[in-house]
Amino acid sequence: MVARFAEQVTLAGYGLHIAPIFEHYEVFVRVGEATDIVRKEMYDFEDKGGRRIALRPEGTAPVVRAFVEHRPITPWKVWYFAPSFRYEAPQAGRYRQHHQLGIEVLGSDDADVDVEVIALQSKFYASLGLRQVRLKLNSLGDAESRPRYLGLLRAHLEAAGPDLSPQSRETLAVNPLRVLDSKRSQDAEIIASAPVMTDVLSDAAAAHFERVQAGLSSLGIGFDLEPRLVRGLDYYTRTTFEFAADALESAQNAIGGGGRYDSLTAQMGGPPTAGIGFGTGIERILLTCDAEGVLPAPTAAVDAFVIDVVDGTHALALTNELRTAGVRTDRAFDGRSMKSQMKQADRAGARLALIVGEQEAADGTVTVRDLGTSEQESVTRADVVEHVRKTIQ
Ligand code: HAM
Repeated sequence: MVARFAEQVTLAGYGLHIAPIFEHYEVFVRVGEATDIVRKEMYDFEDKGGRRIALRPEGTAPVVRAFVEHRPITPWKVWYFAPSFRYEAPQAGRYRQHHQLGIEVLGSDDADVDVEVIALQSKFYASLGLRQVRLKLNSLGDAESRPRYLGLLRAHLEAAGPDLSPQSRETLAVNPLRVLDSKRSQDAEIIASAPVMTDVLSDAAAAHFERVQAGLSSLGIGFDLEPRLVRGLDYYTRTTFEFAADALESAQNAIGGGGRYDSLTAQMGGPPTAGIGFGTGIERILLTCDAEGVLPAPTAAVDAFVIDVVDGTHALALTNELRTAGVRTDRAFDGRSMKSQMKQADRAGARLALIVGEQEAADGTVTVRDLGTSEQESVTRADVVEHVRKTIQ
């Protein structure tokens, strides 16, 4: 899965970014002081030098921190595969250590970047064979529309008074947007009648959002507009999205999400720089693959398997030469019997077995056996690498 992701994002010009597993605590506080992730779920501790350190709960803040520190040329397009840590109550699809595949683009606020990012995520799921995956799309507005919306929302929620659940009243005091995410039945009606951001977007934010939708449609990517979609992190502006897997239970069916975070770089002390990306959890993707029954059979690990029943030195040289020639090759170790090595070649899914016994060693040949048809031929040692290369082409 990781290899396929790497292949697809590399094709689109993203480079691998490897960030540290821990950062200064303050780096993550920027993702939202009022969020559960920062308030309740961070693994933070003091190191021997008295620094406050946190294990990464997510992948975006470390990328932005690295951007601010190193100032690469923009647009800066990176991908990552990284463990993330959240102190949550573990259950199916929710773990204290999970692993995210993700991409981030810094330095462009072109709506086409939003489309590129969402399209890559959508294509990745499709390439795994997933079919019951739904894209939920929203705009959380820009610096102009957001305060206006928050004012309206706060007024609506405050007017509900004690009809709102005590937990949501608490959330309202720190972060009114998060109230929209409440699943409590007591809040359902109040949330359903709440004003929506997309009704009060500034002209610029509305035009951007329209262009994103048109771009997705032009690529044949379907989406549901979800004006009440808010995500668990505070840095989002404008386009926000989440992919829901219908084959999973609804509590943990978000297999990946992301959006724009056009203010985060400046908040971290860098120059104002637009940003967008997504993260997707591999554990949830695997659960979805199981639920949809689409996990593809493993492909052949190697093309050739060298069987040396003399002393191992032929296998040592031949595997090295074949790998240098770009042929995926493996061999057995520990001086095993011919029968045991043949079994291993089968298990490795190899197409060809290259056999060197006493006779071949004396003659300067290799027996090349096609493991599919069981046909075999004798090839001179000097020609065998080229012969194998041509055969597997
Ligand atoms: P997030 O929605 O918090 O976004 O996490 C992304 C994905 O990671 C989720 O959709 C889910 O698949 C997986 N995930 C999160 N928490 C857990 C957990 N406890 N156990 C298993 N899987 C989990 C972010 O983290 C943002 N950094 C995404 C982003 C990138 N936004 C912009 N760029």
